[in-house]
Amino acid sequence: MRPKIHAHFAMTADGKISTKNLTPSQFTSPADKARIGEIRAHHDAILVGRGTVAADTMSMRLSSEKLRAARIKQGRPPEPLRVVISNAGKIDPSWKIFQHTGSPIVILSTTRMPQKLRATLAPLCDLHLYESPTVPLPAAFAMLRAEYGVKSLVCEGGGALLRSLAADDLLDEIHLTLAPVLFGGAAAPTLTGLPGDFLPKPLEFRLAKMEPLGDECLLRFKKKRHQAKS
Ligand SMILES: NC(=O)c1ccc[n+]([C@@H]2O[C@H](COP(=O)([O-])OP(=O)(O)OC[C@H]3O[C@@H](n4cnc5c(N)ncnc54)[C@H](OP(=O)(O)O)[C@@H]3O)[C@@H](O)[C@H]2O)c1
Repeated sequence: MRPKIHAHFAMTADGKISTKNLTPSQFTSPADKARIGEIRAHHDAILVGRGTVAADTMSMRLSSEKLRAARIKQGRPPEPLRVVISNAGKIDPSWKIFQHTGSPIVILSTTRMPQKLRATLAPLCDLHLYESPTVPLPAAFAMLRAEYGVKSLVCEGGGALLRSLAADDLLDEIHLTLAPVLFGGAAAPTLTGLPGDFLPKPLEFRLAKMEPLGDECLLRFKKKRHQAKS
């Protein structure tokens, strides 16, 4: 049994999630940033790809004291588990995420991770290394549920990771902040990463919520139970 999988992204009006150079692109309002915490607080874990942790220098913490207190009141850990995924195991121990104590950090990777790096990371996080060239997503998610009690998680990027979740039909909900900005750029990534192949099949969602927030619009899509044939 796997956790419910939500994704949370900000997107420009022309459908981009980042610049061509994959540099951090803070293009939404402070109100939207506060909402990131609210969505995090709902979930048992936050999941991000190696590219996003490296580019955005994330701590993956729940910074609001109020949200942490509310979780404790509900009998939950103060902050969601922090989960980073990388096939090649290129995890840098100097990343900001390792400098912030808070919830435990879980790395999902493969035995491609160099032995020396494994020894360096071992005191900093829980390493789950699969003996395959790529992380078997269904097995990894089932492990998060069984070993860490993760019933729902929110994926905060990036596009490459979201594409793989979509390709394996593992997405239950998408939270999208539509920002009144245009980036242009045929090479800029979209929700499903850099321009590339079509997904094996289209995934269909229904609009569950639409809420204007200043000049932005918050959209929440839920997976349709019955998918149309591609
Ligand atoms: N607008 C937004 O809401 C938003 C959200 C998040 C990120 N971003 C932007 O997106 C950019 C990063 O993009 P990205 O596509 O490189 O990010 P990413 O998906 O976070 O990182 C890609 C890397 O993550 C690992 N990975 C992805 N899917 C995997 C899977 N199924 N199994 C195992 N490992 C997997 C791989 O690491 P290895 O190569 O180590 O194997 C892959 O190279 C940044 O500029 C960031 O600012 C924007």
